[in-house]
Amino acid sequence: MPLLHAAFMNPAEARSLSPVLESCAYLNAGSVGPLSRHTFQAMEDCERMALEQGRGGPAVWERAFATESALRQRIAALINVPEDKVVLTTSTTEGCNIVVTGLRLGPDDEVVTTNAEHPGLLMPLLASGAKVKQADVMSRPVPESLHAILAEVTPQTRLVALSHVLWLNGHVLPLAEIKRETGLPLLVDGAQSVGAIPVDASVADWYTVSGRGPETTGALFVAEHERLRPQVQSFAASMRTDAGRLALVHLGTPMIAGLLAALEDMPEWAFEHAAAMVAYGRKALLGGGAEVRTEAGQGTLVSFRISGEPGELVKAAEARGIVIRNLPDGWLRASIGWWTDERDIDRLVEFLVEQR
Ligand SMILES: Cc1ncc(COP(=O)(O)O)c(C=O)c1O
Repeated sequence: MPLLHAAFMNPAEARSLSPVLESCAYLNAGSVGPLSRHTFQAMEDCERMALEQGRGGPAVWERAFATESALRQRIAALINVPEDKVVLTTSTTEGCNIVVTGLRLGPDDEVVTTNAEHPGLLMPLLASGAKVKQADVMSRPVPESLHAILAEVTPQTRLVALSHVLWLNGHVLPLAEIKRETGLPLLVDGAQSVGAIPVDASVADWYTVSGRGPETTGALFVAEHERLRPQVQSFAASMRTDAGRLALVHLGTPMIAGLLAALEDMPEWAFEHAAAMVAYGRKALLGGGAEVRTEAGQGTLVSFRISGEPGELVKAAEARGIVIRNLPDGWLRASIGWWTDERDIDRLVEFLVEQR
């Protein structure tokens, strides 16, 4: 099948790039999203070339460096930062670990975070040895989150570390205000924001990216790499003097080519369409009798619940071709993306109505 170029696609054509969307209401995204034919083909081409031409020759390396540079440029443009400040990683989790370990926090230091963080950020913070203070943003309306975070800051605070979009309810934290009001180093978990909503990572000191294309891909924006004193180093540190010296794991060429292809699939209308689908989804879920805890006008996650055991509901939905997830606090979550259409949401709501 000939592949369409993303720039010329309408929503139906964009959906047709991911075969999983033909049969499935695919409503779960984070570390990864739906895989497209472009992404698959880019990875397959790399593997085939490796199979036929080997992996160690100079021509292979030159090609790999060029693709890597194109990927860093593409990510930098997406999050509004210079390319030389972008480090490729395997994940948001790795990015958080690079920053937290590089700051060399100790028991006399405090870190302010929230009570709505994914373990990909929370576990590195807990491992740091610093005192971790979690602002309660979950029991408050969105406009009160800034106040809740500022209330945890003390003269001992060395780092503010939180998600741009909270994975438990999709609420958006006010990064620029947090940075302005605290003046403190700011690490942002961007796993649920990059590719979902417009992002200006330059408001933070460090901002992570999850690939959402091939598995185990991502990136980290580093404003001033000199401020980190890495405790773990790879051979990248012997070759690079910019932010790239912080890179820990060398991503395989299929991963790099695959992520570049996945990013090139993103249509110009991606954010606008996703936001419209979120508004549609929130309304439809409420109309279908679900309890919805996500406020209007936030990110692309909608968290809701109905009666029934959440894990069993997720499995029953999967058996019907509807992919959602349950969360550790007992709620359910639908992730909406630029690939979502009304029919995906209608299928979810019909399923929920049947469960009553
Ligand atoms: C907010 C948040 N942070 C971190 C992660 C983990 O991402 P990664 O697998 O890129 O480390 C996720 C995964 O969905 C997430 O939603």
